[in-house]
Amino acid sequence: MPILMASPAAPRKLFVTTALPYANGPFHVGHIMEYIQADIWVRFQRMQGHEVHFVCADDTHGAPIMLKAAEEGITPEALIARVNESHRADWVRYAISFDTTHTTHSPENTELAQSIYRRLRDHTPSLIGRRTIEQFYDPVQGMFLADRYIKGTCPKCGAKDQYGDACEVCGSTYAPTDLIAPYSAITGAKPELRASEHFFFRLSEPLVVAFLERWTRETPLQPEVFNKIREWLGEDGAGKDLADWDISRDAPYFGIEIPDAPGKYFYVWLDAPIGYLAALKKHFDSGAARRTYPTETRSFDEFVADPEVEQYHFIGKDIVYFHTLFWPAMLRFSERKTPTNVFVHGFITFSGEKMSKSRGTGISPQRYLELGMNPEWLRYYLAAKLNDRVEDLDFNPDDFVARVNSDLVGKYVNIASRAASFLTRYFDGALAPPGPRPAWWLTSADAAAREIRTWLNDRQYSRAVRRIMELADLINRHFDEHEPWRLAKDPANRDALHRVVSDCMAGFKLLSVLLAPIIPTTARAAAAFLGEDRDFTWADLDVAPTRIGEYRHLVKRIDPKDIDALLAPAPASTGTERGAPAVAAPEATLPTAPSDAGTADAPAAAAATAAISIDDFTKVDLRIARIVAAEHVEGAAKLLKLTLDVGEARPRTVFAGIKAAYDPATLVGRLTPMVANLAPRKMKFGVSEGMILAASGDGPGIFLLAPDAGAAPGMRVK
Ligand code: MSP
Ligand code: ZN
Repeated sequence: MPILMASPAAPRKLFVTTALPYANGPFHVGHIMEYIQADIWVRFQRMQGHEVHFVCADDTHGAPIMLKAAEEGITPEALIARVNESHRADWVRYAISFDTTHTTHSPENTELAQSIYRRLRDHTPSLIGRRTIEQFYDPVQGMFLADRYIKGTCPKCGAKDQYGDACEVCGSTYAPTDLIAPYSAITGAKPELRASEHFFFRLSEPLVVAFLERWTRETPLQPEVFNKIREWLGEDGAGKDLADWDISRDAPYFGIEIPDAPGKYFYVWLDAPIGYLAALKKHFDSGAARRTYPTETRSFDEFVADPEVEQYHFIGKDIVYFHTLFWPAMLRFSERKTPTNVFVHGFITFSGEKMSKSRGTGISPQRYLELGMNPEWLRYYLAAKLNDRVEDLDFNPDDFVARVNSDLVGKYVNIASRAASFLTRYFDGALAPPGPRPAWWLTSADAAAREIRTWLNDRQYSRAVRRIMELADLINRHFDEHEPWRLAKDPANRDALHRVVSDCMAGFKLLSVLLAPIIPTTARAAAAFLGEDRDFTWADLDVAPTRIGEYRHLVKRIDPKDIDALLAPAPASTGTERGAPAVAAPEATLPTAPSDAGTADAPAAAAATAAISIDDFTKVDLRIARIVAAEHVEGAAKLLKLTLDVGEARPRTVFAGIKAAYDPATLVGRLTPMVANLAPRKMKFGVSEGMILAASGDGPGIFLLAPDAGAAPGMRVK
């Protein structure tokens, strides 16, 4: 009996992005929160059978990145390449299922930014203005200074060392030229006023205002966002208060050149959102879109122009102005399709405080992984708190531990573990054929699943999670009320026992499908346990499981000690993107364990012989991997670069010190065990996302391990 209409008649076609992160450092947890919010939505839409193209890119241009690179003595290209590796490693580790990731420093973006600009300029000349402005210039650094690079004494209260736009002491705002005794925050030099011609995007142009008026009314924006835009457009909606937007910067600048304007570059915020399109273009041009959806045979240009394609941007509340005024206007007046909607989230705070590196508030997502903490805990916790409003979300460590341990482990996982023990022991893993559903199922589960589908689609994740846990409570109660441990004592009750534990296991499957967008790795393991070696789709709600495999604990509890370590001041070496970038990690010295030996967190070899508990051992996530590609690494004496399929959406890159023993060509296709939960490690040649296992002794020779026939990528080794 079908309980749900799983897919609609025609799949939707969705183009989805998150904000493009600045390429100036590793992610903080605010970034991760945004990725998780968007990823849950995207995975949910894929489960409905929709065609989703989910892309991201690093936002690489601008003065801060140029200056940071200069400070480190490297090129901006080297800086953004290093940061990109760190970003990519974290996207994989947090199971963020971008289909393609790219960079704004790319031919696609240059081409698109320049052509969009040309169209704006040529089709609606009144849109682009030019004006000579006077600005502070640092004669030592040889560049114009943005407000944040100018300091001086506040003209109102006399406080020293205040920034060029506002005083942190008295709160007044002013122009940098109002500062008393201004100086360059970069070199300390006394800045000079210099004139230069700038290009402006004229937001207050009546055509633009009229368009924004309409776009705002026709787009189902969140109420907070709608109100904000109304404010910007002014009481009468005439946009009189909208300021012209300065879109040019003078050389030296790390960015994209403005056509027909030598020495002028686009301000980073002009080319950044165009990076959404550049990433999508790469996604289509590379063939990735078609590989996922063989029926999607169109070109990038055809796809983006299709009115049926829905375009959504997930962003934080600080960048609404750019995404609801400039971006739609840029698209509209270059004769492109405008966004279907912009989904805005609030900021993550820590026990009520703003995240701040200097005050040590917040948690590092890289350290979280290095401590071996499970990304699914964070995904679950954030989902349990996220909604569709522009509200801040507080990360509270006690609440985090409580929710994960009592809900995810104590309720959800508990059902599988309790039912599995009876099914295995008395029924050899076979479930009773589906019979009439218990009353609670009929009255609650079907309706709940329908509500949950609506809520996930509406980004009301916290409501969905609450409902899922109510179902988990019902299932646990069903188990308790029928006391299978008593039924098991009398063979006459065998059928009754089978019915109860089978129904509970069917309930566990239901919960797993509903939770799949939130905890995809766990849901995938649950699917395998229930005999399906693939990701769940929504249609799986209608299919009762028939047998189970061997039960292994799906999610372990959070050890409060991990939280202490997470909140403790970070050791110097933490983060996959380390502080001292120019220092290359030495090449691997151990045969197969690329380690940047010498850093504080390199394990001591002797420790390997000390006794460990089974819990210590199970912390190591050993998995079967298929070597899909193997290649030499230029300049590396011992390493091979391996591309491994570990049954995840995306292959992993691992550097292994096996060059002396293996010709790369002979490795392709082989299966081998790997350590899958090793924190990604930045090496001289790239990020290594795990470790393969091989034997070696005192003599020469390195010997890869191989599983028996039948093993498949992603299987757990234990
Ligand atoms: N590069 C721009 C976006 C360009 S989009 C064409 C940018 N980058 S960012 O790295 O500063 O921020 C990336 C995203 O993280 C933004 O959506 C921002 O709102 C979000 N967050 C930054 N701090 C955050 C929190 N504390 N909490 C949640 N999200 C946060 O802006
Ligand atoms: Zn002041």
